[in-house]
Amino acid sequence: MGKDVIIAADFKSAADTFAFLEAFGEERPFLKIGMELYYAEGPSIVKALKDRGHKIFLDLKLHDIPNTVKKAMSVLSRLDVDITNLHASGTVRMMEAAIEGLTRPDGSRPLLIAVTQLTSTDQESLENDLWIKEPMEEVVMHYARNAAKAGLDGVVCSPLEAEAVHTACGKSFLTVTPGVRFADGDVGDQKRVMTPEQAKKIGSDYIVVGRPITAAADPKAAWERCVREFCD
Ligand code: C5P
Repeated sequence: MGKDVIIAADFKSAADTFAFLEAFGEERPFLKIGMELYYAEGPSIVKALKDRGHKIFLDLKLHDIPNTVKKAMSVLSRLDVDITNLHASGTVRMMEAAIEGLTRPDGSRPLLIAVTQLTSTDQESLENDLWIKEPMEEVVMHYARNAAKAGLDGVVCSPLEAEAVHTACGKSFLTVTPGVRFADGDVGDQKRVMTPEQAKKIGSDYIVVGRPITAAADPKAAWERCVREFCD
């Protein structure tokens, strides 16, 4: 899979998701299914979108003891998603167990990427709540290196961290970056943003774009603009 734009399908139901996709006609954009939609509709929403021809990033951010994550990943591998993820804070052993669980009998598996630190965690909550005293940038890079050590394919990170992650973990280690906004668009609640063009320049492999597409008057045109700016 090459560079691509992944639309965050942050909808509350299958009906809302399919209504949104009507605007795309025959096009089949890469979609991210998060907890809201998955918990509302269950595995059937993944199957329905795969059958329709969409690639799927299943964003469930697993974090539990290694054995439980291994078994859960084994179930998810049967859904035939293209990318899924977990929290790197679950330890290297948990990530290794996740890969074992995700690997199908024929040796194939979806791409597996890690969340390092959530962008909602700031330095203060890192130190006072999580009791981690190192600077955020170092924590993020340490977790990214742990993910690489466990054999994962990449991390979800801010576009601003993508370059450093590639330097530390190698060019082929994937960086999947949310926080993307058009130069002339609304930033909303995202704090550190980049345009699709800037994300391309700093070497993001996939951008995850929600509201700039889902809340656009013409979602298909907004998606096409993203693809043009990021992929061309
Ligand atoms: O609407 P917007 O473009 O901000 O959506 C970004 C998507 O990426 C949302 O689904 C959000 O939950 C997700 N995300 C994020 N920042 C992270 C991890 C995931 O914005 N660090």
